[in-house]
Amino acid sequence: MRNLNAVITGVGGYVPEDILTNEDITKMVDTTDEWITTRTGIKERRILKGEGLGASFMGAKAIEELLRKTNTKPEEVDALICSTTTPDYIYPSTASILAGKCGITHAFAYDLAAACSGFLFGLVNGASFVESGRFKKVIVVAAEKMSSVTNYQDRTTCPLFGDGAAAVMLEPSEEPLGLIDSVLHTDGVGYPYLHIKAGGSVQPINHEALDNRANYTYQEGQTVFKFAVTKLVEASEEMKARNGLTANDVDWVIPHQANMRIIDSITRTMKVPTEKVVVNIQKYGNTSSASIPICLWEFEKQFKKGDVLILSAFGAGFSWGSVYLKWAYDSK
Ligand code: UT7
Repeated sequence: MRNLNAVITGVGGYVPEDILTNEDITKMVDTTDEWITTRTGIKERRILKGEGLGASFMGAKAIEELLRKTNTKPEEVDALICSTTTPDYIYPSTASILAGKCGITHAFAYDLAAACSGFLFGLVNGASFVESGRFKKVIVVAAEKMSSVTNYQDRTTCPLFGDGAAAVMLEPSEEPLGLIDSVLHTDGVGYPYLHIKAGGSVQPINHEALDNRANYTYQEGQTVFKFAVTKLVEASEEMKARNGLTANDVDWVIPHQANMRIIDSITRTMKVPTEKVVVNIQKYGNTSSASIPICLWEFEKQFKKGDVLILSAFGAGFSWGSVYLKWAYDSK
């Protein structure tokens, strides 16, 4: 039997035009540009404005660019996995809406909810379909309208989040490239520290929920911060050890863009020089599961065929992980 690897053959992305700066946030809550910049590294974030526009608006734009760049007809796509924490609706899946919007008529499509780690979980999930030999073109898209679940009266969370989407195409290859290894974890201990209290089946939206602003993100930042640093270091060390990788072997580290201090701390521990670490948190803030593929989209032209990429994410649940990829193409 042939040994099939799942390789990324293209990336598409989209961020909304509207920019919310730190200066704008100082007019909403008691904060300063200095606090936000030094505590998070964020200077501005993109916000999707417009009546009736949800995550699928951005996801569809990312997929359309991906289909163009990979010369793929929508009906050739076999599967569409959409990672989102901010689906258009509770149901149907945002993936099914995306399939409808993009003319993807011959694929099965579903959402995957793993908060900020969702893109990595989706990538491993999609890669298994391709490696099995059964599916040839699998799209993994992450689309997040975090502004729809952000309380702009809460200074501890509102500077953090932004909106955006990005998508990759996974296809089979017999070359030793693509997804090489993954370390994925979930620990349900995280629920109290990062969640949205209302809007699900435990507490459907009602007047009380709205009065308490319980339909927005609740986070105990320090606890999440400590877990994120510890678990991300553990996952990347596990990945390096079991693949015999040293810092010199790594061409790019692509961390989830949640906090510049978390990024600095894991790259210091991994002993990877800063020029190998992909960072765009200053422009987009935390776009949840879209942050890693948005990095791939923005930095695509700098990746060379064979480059070693380590992707790392941490998010609600808690969920976290690390993915070891060999990039499969030189961008034009
Ligand atoms: O992507 C999903 C995973 N999420 C994360 O990885 C986020 C992890 N956590 C974090 O990034 C950080 O914990 C935050 C950026 C959320 C907060 O930074 P921190 O350094 O942990 O601040 P803190 O919560 O310990 O608060 C320190 C102080 C507090 O004041 P006191 O009690 O020391 O007087 C806060 O009230 O900073 C205050 N503070 C603010 N001050 C000005 C909190 N938010 C603000 C603000 N402006 N926006």
